[in-house]
Amino acid sequence: MKKINSYIVITGASSGIGEATALRLARAKKSLILCARRKQRLEALKKECLHLGAVDVICLTLDVTQPTTLETFLKKNPKLRVQSLINSAGLARGSELVQFADLTDWEAMIDTNIKGLLYTTRTLLEHIIRERGHIVNLGSVAGRLIYEGGAVYCATKFAVRAFNDGLRMDLKGTGVRVTNIEPGMVNTEFSLVRLGSKQKAESVYQDMMPLSATDIAESIFWCLNQPAHVNIQELVIYPTDQASVGQVVRGEKSIKKLIRS
Ligand SMILES: NC(=O)c1ccc[n+]([C@@H]2O[C@H](COP(=O)([O-])OP(=O)(O)OC[C@H]3O[C@@H](n4cnc5c(N)ncnc54)[C@H](OP(=O)(O)O)[C@@H]3O)[C@@H](O)[C@H]2O)c1
Repeated sequence: MKKINSYIVITGASSGIGEATALRLARAKKSLILCARRKQRLEALKKECLHLGAVDVICLTLDVTQPTTLETFLKKNPKLRVQSLINSAGLARGSELVQFADLTDWEAMIDTNIKGLLYTTRTLLEHIIRERGHIVNLGSVAGRLIYEGGAVYCATKFAVRAFNDGLRMDLKGTGVRVTNIEPGMVNTEFSLVRLGSKQKAESVYQDMMPLSATDIAESIFWCLNQPAHVNIQELVIYPTDQASVGQVVRGEKSIKKLIRS
């Protein structure tokens, strides 16, 4: 293992925002630890990142709800330095009303979005404090506003926002920065995972222009690159076609049409 740079750990690197962030950081010649459950995707991304200029890339196949994999990895590599963490692993499951919801969907969201993010952060914190690093959490506009059928997903993102603020207080004086990125609609695998069918997922973004994972990766990159005395605490990013949660413009008035004409 090369020991040139301090590493940036990215959870949820096998898809969407995590993957796009890995590619952006690779272009900036960073050393990366890519984490997710789908090993093959991580291996393919590793190749791409190295091709783009990443100094070193380590793939760590893990489930964020099980912190032992990361703990064991760190114990086996005592000289490894970790500077920053991008907590992008997360998901929504289902959009049923509370009275009809499936408890396993709730458990998956709470275990991944809350417990997984907490465990990963806690496991890496000593390293990040040592390096005066940066923790970037993927919250959501769902951590600010609630919508029908999203009670539990929104609750998990409210929790991320609360943890983000509490963590920053606990870390004051360490030089560690803590940022909550709060996107609106981003076209990733998020809706496919939530709704379970390609057709349903595509309908979410039909006739409007959502954000791309790259848009969010650029914002994360910008936050990471502020001078050490500047901490972007929260960044709310909507697509122009989404005025607020549930307020989406489609068809003729979509920015998609306006850009073309
Ligand atoms: N897309 C949006 O509209 C949107 C809006 C606001 C916020 N967000 C948030 O942004 C984050 C990234 O979502 P995305 O849009 O990029 O969705 P995505 O394309 O579905 O990516 C989700 C990533 O999380 C990983 N993941 C899920 N459960 C995991 C687990 N238990 N252990 C390890 N990794 C796990 C997945 O990898 P594996 O399946 O390989 O493990 C995947 O890499 C999430 O926290 C999401 O809540 C998304």
